[in-house]
Amino acid sequence: MQPFMSGTAGALAGNARVPGDKSISHRALMVGALAVGESEIHGLLEGEDVLRSAAAMRALGAEAWRDDKGVWRVIGRGVGGLIEPADVLDLGNAGTGARLLMGVVATHRLTAFFTGDASLRRRPMARVVTPLSEMGAVFTAREGYRLPLAVQGTGDPLPIRYRLPVPSAQVKSAILLAGLNAPGETTVIEPEPTRDHTELMLRHFGAEVRVAAEPEGRVVTLVGEPELTGRRIEVPADPSSAAFPMVAALIAPGSDVILTGVMTNPLRTGLIATLREMGADIEALETRTDAGEAMADLRIRAGALRGVEVPALRAPAMIDEYPVLAVAAACAQGTTVMRGLKELRVKESDRLAATADMLRANGVEVEIVGDDLIVHGKGQGDGVPGGGVVATHMDHRIAMSALVMGVASARPVTVDDAAFIATSFPGFADLMRGLGADFVG
Ligand code: S3P
Repeated sequence: MQPFMSGTAGALAGNARVPGDKSISHRALMVGALAVGESEIHGLLEGEDVLRSAAAMRALGAEAWRDDKGVWRVIGRGVGGLIEPADVLDLGNAGTGARLLMGVVATHRLTAFFTGDASLRRRPMARVVTPLSEMGAVFTAREGYRLPLAVQGTGDPLPIRYRLPVPSAQVKSAILLAGLNAPGETTVIEPEPTRDHTELMLRHFGAEVRVAAEPEGRVVTLVGEPELTGRRIEVPADPSSAAFPMVAALIAPGSDVILTGVMTNPLRTGLIATLREMGADIEALETRTDAGEAMADLRIRAGALRGVEVPALRAPAMIDEYPVLAVAAACAQGTTVMRGLKELRVKESDRLAATADMLRANGVEVEIVGDDLIVHGKGQGDGVPGGGVVATHMDHRIAMSALVMGVASARPVTVDDAAFIATSFPGFADLMRGLGADFVG
């Protein structure tokens, strides 16, 4: 356990770049390993979750290393060319790593064993096991298809047409990655659009992916057995990591911060839309696109926030941002209602409960009604009492959200364990200190 504390330090100021996007980093390693030739990945997130994916791809026969300039290089084996790993694949804390990789191996003729840490071993895997079994893979697992789990991939896969029962980019991606080695067309129908990084990246590597808006939802079709070729990728800064200094800058009075190169894919910008509705001053300064992904420099200035209602439909575009939005809501005037948060219960922790407990421990009134979270704001400028110790439950985003709350609460906020921050945001404390936050480890 690594306790950590944050206190009020006044205004935050300066420029910062948060690490590379986690979703894109996992995908770049996996798709690179399925391509022929060498891929170059600039700005890969070197967090523990992604390093586990790199190790897994090496265990499956690809080469993946960091060169002396900090660029990651992957030499792939081509679609269908992975080999049986000699040991258990341990994906650590990473749901994305585990689920996407289960898709990758499901359509290779090999057997692979998956495990992870105590948090990942609690998370539901049936959501990927069901469609991947339809494609021909065979799974042996614990109750509820929880890890540890064995996958016997099929050498004779069937393409499927599958309607997502839960809005999950991980499930969609697992199916599409499995579909790479299946003949014909694999189709995923998503009633609610989720992040489309897999679609964009597969296209970037040379696959044919069609997307259509139909009455039944967003229909994504992949043409199987493509020849993927090694590519260059620049990983934009992770908007889910940028969310922490962004909210800190909004709630610490007098702050003026610029976050550079932040990905602004519209399927990831639900938090920015919500904060703007709350009255936040967030300005996109410079926008550009690389490998199909949009990014911008964002200027954030502190100011008064007001409570809003966040519709359930927006959840997929900000699914990882609710804990830190709840911190912004605690510093706002009035009540914020966040609807439709069922999926938060199956993240790295039960994030709905952990978010509510984080606020309560620091003197903020909060209710969970069904799948909705209701936060009664305390207003800006020491309105949040603070002084609490927050249980992080092996969840990096709870730890970072709690520490952000400390920058604007009357008394310091402590987290019981900051160790898991390294899964997604190495250097978090130093970046926040660089902007002027008072972080004591
Ligand atoms: C991710 C999708 C989301 C998100 C996770 C990353 C991805 O999970 O919570 O941090 O990279 O596809 P779900 O797809 O399960 O909602």
